Amino acid sequence: MTEAPDAAALVVAARAAMAQAYAPYSGFYVGAALAFADGTVITGSNFENASYGLSLCAETVAAAKASQQGHRAGLVAVAIAGGPQGVPGAVVTPCGRCRQVLNELAALGATDPLIIATGAHETVEMRLSALLPLAFGPANLIP
Ligand code: THU
Repeated sequence: MTEAPDAAALVVAARAAMAQAYAPYSGFYVGAALAFADGTVITGSNFENASYGLSLCAETVAAAKASQQGHRAGLVAVAIAGGPQGVPGAVVTPCGRCRQVLNELAALGATDPLIIATGAHETVEMRLSALLPLAFGPANLIP
């Protein structure tokens, strides 16, 4: 498994993405930065909707961007930053849906990315497989 590239730089990218969040309803800004084995970093921020339940999380936006830009293999690390009005507080870990979305992208390159969940004073690092054990993925669809 490829080790995470410069985790500190990835957190800086996630925090910068957080500032671009469109979160007028929750006021909770989130940024995510995806690192690929080739050095590419792709960011996303949450994009909320007046129909609240249709809001998109930062990680999901970043994953969709990565796919659209042709980065579907080699996901090695994901940094996440967030907080009320963009001020980090408690550690932000990916929601359940985002874990599944990230699992799809990771599966395309058979990686187990390091999830770097950050807060104001604390960072928690763990593999995606630890956050989403016994994941359902593309392999499950093969007869
Ligand atoms: N949010 C994310 O962007 N990522 C997560 O993993 C957790 C939640 C967003 C969704 C919503 O726009 C706001 O944070 C409050 O839930």
